[in-house]
Amino acid sequence: MSSEHQLNLFGESNVQESSFDKKELIPTDAKIPIPMGTYADMIELAQHCNQCHRCELGKTRIHTVVGRGNLKAPIMVIGEAPGQNEDETGLPFVGRAGQLLEKILQSVKLDTEKDVYIANINKCRPPNNRVPTNEEIEACKPYLLEQIRLVDPKIILLTGATAVKGIIGDKRGITQIRGTWMEWEGRLCMPIFHPSYLLRNQSREVGKPKWLMWQDIQTVRAKYNEMMGIKS
Ligand code: URA
Repeated sequence: MSSEHQLNLFGESNVQESSFDKKELIPTDAKIPIPMGTYADMIELAQHCNQCHRCELGKTRIHTVVGRGNLKAPIMVIGEAPGQNEDETGLPFVGRAGQLLEKILQSVKLDTEKDVYIANINKCRPPNNRVPTNEEIEACKPYLLEQIRLVDPKIILLTGATAVKGIIGDKRGITQIRGTWMEWEGRLCMPIFHPSYLLRNQSREVGKPKWLMWQDIQTVRAKYNEMMGIKS
């Protein structure tokens, strides 16, 4: 299918609804928008991601990594991009950083199968785990926006500076903004440290990153309780 045809399918108002066959459409060109409301569910979205070549990362991936957890979770965690373990399994946050993320959530009795949905800014692994480029982030962003729409979380946790930049556009350092509530598109977001950063900074001393994370996750739990009417 030509790019022009794809563009028509997505963008032009004179195109009949019936000619809009998403399954045939391969969004290979990042200039072609993927409008909000394109995907009826996460399965359709994942099918598109699996064929996607909107950026160069599609050339080197083993698997696309879309998400895991409860598709209707009240809390969504957004990371940066898959690493080697994630690329191999097709699931986000399953390596060492993922195990630490599980522990952090469990420490305030949040269950990743029930309370949380986990996704990344980018669905494909950047070579050598480098930080995704702005072009790669933008090419992948429509998928993430659709995931947020479909899951419809009350709270979004943005792990690390890339996640904050990719969603909110705030380019400040994570140390400066972690632990603060930010409103984005009517949703409450909190930037938190990326678990990989905590793996490199193991001290639990007061004021150190691990201690700060403990404060932040308790703040998240308290807000969640308040929003859900849970008495603590
Ligand atoms: N780091 C991330 O940001 N995401 C993953 O899925 C794994 C590690």
